Amino acid sequence: MILPVYAYGSPVLRKVATDIAKDYKGLSELTENMFETMKAADGVGLAAPQVGLPIRIFVMDARAYAENDPSLVNFRKVFINAHILERGGEEELIEEGCLSVPNIHEDILRPGKIRIKYVDENFTPVDEWYEGMVARIIQHEYDHLDGIMFPDLVNPLKKTLLRSKLRDISKGKVAVKYKMIFPLKK
Ligand code: NI
Repeated sequence: MILPVYAYGSPVLRKVATDIAKDYKGLSELTENMFETMKAADGVGLAAPQVGLPIRIFVMDARAYAENDPSLVNFRKVFINAHILERGGEEELIEEGCLSVPNIHEDILRPGKIRIKYVDENFTPVDEWYEGMVARIIQHEYDHLDGIMFPDLVNPLKKTLLRSKLRDISKGKVAVKYKMIFPLKK
């Protein structure tokens, strides 16, 4: 089932999300719905707060990047109870976008490598380092779990320039092909 995506300005996107228990009701259905929602919106990552749930889950599909990095050929994963433990490597400037912030793309500076612990769909604990595009997508999705959105990370001048566009998104004054919930729509 495709879920509506909460737009910039929605209070749920500003909460610090919490870990869930193994018996969380409807977990496998939720993750499948998140994958379906992400795919329908042509996204590469989607975090639970973006579908209205302040819990520490995100899904990712990085298979589109396999052309540049063959190790990603099967990269379709769910990260549950995710916690970044370390960040390192060279900082990289990469353009980001977000399904909650349609039609805005900005270069964002982030560390090139991260170490993250999480549990997979079977609640098996994982502790791994990632780099490249995957590390980038993880950091973006992970920020959603801490109530951080990528426009927060641009410089103050850019932020001022973005302000009215972000306001329009919150009001639903934006052309978007997937279903969204706009917090300030009248
Ligand atoms: Ni996002």
